[in-house]
Amino acid sequence: MTNSTVETLGLVHRYIPTEQSENATTLLLLHGTGGDENDLISLGKALAPEANLLSPRGNVLERGLPRFFLRLAEGVFDQQDLKYRTAELSQFIVDASVRYGFNSERVVAVGYSNGANIAASLLLSEPDRLICAILFHPMVPFVPDALPNLNSRTIFIGAGENDPIVPVSNTKELVSMFQQVGAQVTIHWHRGGHALIQKEVEAAQKWFQMSKFSSGSY
Ligand code: MLT
Repeated sequence: MTNSTVETLGLVHRYIPTEQSENATTLLLLHGTGGDENDLISLGKALAPEANLLSPRGNVLERGLPRFFLRLAEGVFDQQDLKYRTAELSQFIVDASVRYGFNSERVVAVGYSNGANIAASLLLSEPDRLICAILFHPMVPFVPDALPNLNSRTIFIGAGENDPIVPVSNTKELVSMFQQVGAQVTIHWHRGGHALIQKEVEAAQKWFQMSKFSSGSY
């Protein structure tokens, strides 16, 4: 068990177990461009004090800044790399669950920006890998040929009405894709831009603490 950064399982990461870690929810913390495995630890602790925290660092560098997949330009994603990195992240979750002994069926993604985008990609390509997701400022990462069944998945989205990177129409398209296939989506709009603000963190915290996934008893 480790609390500090380790370089195993294919992705540099931190894992912070809780007591009763094998039954607990595990938050998969996914940072934004230029972040690392330390960025979202305090957010994770605030969202779910009783959860295990698994926090990988993106494996791709853009001018030295870690990301979870390559992009060709702002908002234009390298689809081949996205597919590869999404599968890599999925395998990392499985491998980490074996290594650390947490329940791989109780993983909740918490992502910001680029991290939210790879979480959305995981929901759309391997829906069984996550039971719930908290996505701050996500975009449509890709449009699958056939949408997966997201019945019983609950998703919180935080979005800024004045986000210069994610147009409101793109957020709405993502929400509608999720809803079409049965996900229960809660969207929290605020007046701000792309930065993660305290108000949306508090809204996510309230939402998550009222959901059954915040403790291990489900
Ligand atoms: C970012 O800066 O991370 C972008 O807005 C989102 C992305 O490229 O995935």
